[in-house]
Amino acid sequence: MLSLQFKRLIHSIKKSPVGFAFDIDGVLMQSKNPILPYARDTVTLLQDHKIPFVLLTNGGGQTEASRVSFLNKSLSLKNPLRTSQIVLSHTPMRNLTGKYNRVLVVGGDDPQTREVAQSYGFQEVIRPIDIVREAPNIWPFIRYTREEIQALSKPVDLRQPIDAVFVFNDPRDMGTDTQIVIDALCSENGVLGTRRGIGSSKPSVPIIFSNMDLLWSTGYPIPRFGQGAFRLTIRELYKQLNNAELEDIVLGKPWPVSYTYAENVLNDEWKLLNGDRSGANEIPELGVKPKEQLVENVYMVGDNPQSDISGGNNYGWETILVETGVYKEGDFHKYPTLAKPTFGIFPNVWDGVTSALKRHQVI
Ligand code: G3P
Ligand code: MG
Repeated sequence: MLSLQFKRLIHSIKKSPVGFAFDIDGVLMQSKNPILPYARDTVTLLQDHKIPFVLLTNGGGQTEASRVSFLNKSLSLKNPLRTSQIVLSHTPMRNLTGKYNRVLVVGGDDPQTREVAQSYGFQEVIRPIDIVREAPNIWPFIRYTREEIQALSKPVDLRQPIDAVFVFNDPRDMGTDTQIVIDALCSENGVLGTRRGIGSSKPSVPIIFSNMDLLWSTGYPIPRFGQGAFRLTIRELYKQLNNAELEDIVLGKPWPVSYTYAENVLNDEWKLLNGDRSGANEIPELGVKPKEQLVENVYMVGDNPQSDISGGNNYGWETILVETGVYKEGDFHKYPTLAKPTFGIFPNVWDGVTSALKRHQVI
């Protein structure tokens, strides 16, 4: 009777010569609009040639399943993308359920963002709308309507401390969210409605931003502020109130933790394409690279030099920059320190990916 290990050994999977990590906004989509025909044709080409690929986005505020379902509909793919192929900005935060129980999750829409945090297994998920329900005068200009508060908020005991603040996506009511987040960071031990003394760079409760994109591509003629703009607001207000720089934690591209997570997912994707489901339900540990690299040449395809290209270069991947998003021709002259792609700049994702596939004699 062959042991499972030995079976795996004799059926060890050959490496894939090439694989891809795709940014979404500015590469496959512009906000809710697909970049056609390039996005659909590129995904279909890779599926037809069984080339492994994952989606690595700083987007979020919804479950991985709902984001993938939206992409499948938008791109009208004959073979739908799998939920296991996507890494949202907050996907790696599912590893933090053992560390924090009562979390304030900011950004994104209600009820979607609460659903995400609950799907990860956090014991108590608090949203700004819950706090407004209990303390309507926490900010004099709240934008929630009475009906929204009635329908979307949950009761919360504000006497209990918050363990951590997570920013899952861009705020929808920046005034209310800014006030509540600063209140939590400057509170006595995480209890809202209290204020501790000033001078510490260490916030009263940790805050983790799921990305630091200052700008992103939405299809408007010029890039729009992203979660990074909210982070700069929080950092500056914290500094003004505490006379100290905020010690915060930032995930997402360009940080290696997100690329390591994506590399694990890409490995599992390649195993799956070879009939091995051993990685299918595993959650990669934060910052832990896969035991072996099953994809020999990984290309990060992005539209933002500051996140996609910089992160991919630093991680040791090849990088492809496309001109359908944040980056515009001439930007490298205007901003010479911007990270440059190792493989090249292309008008769209199709041109970039087919050039890479030709380089590796796949097509
Ligand atoms: O919120 C989305 C934005 O930050 C950029 O998303 O897909 O270009 O990484 P993406
Ligand atoms: Mg992008």
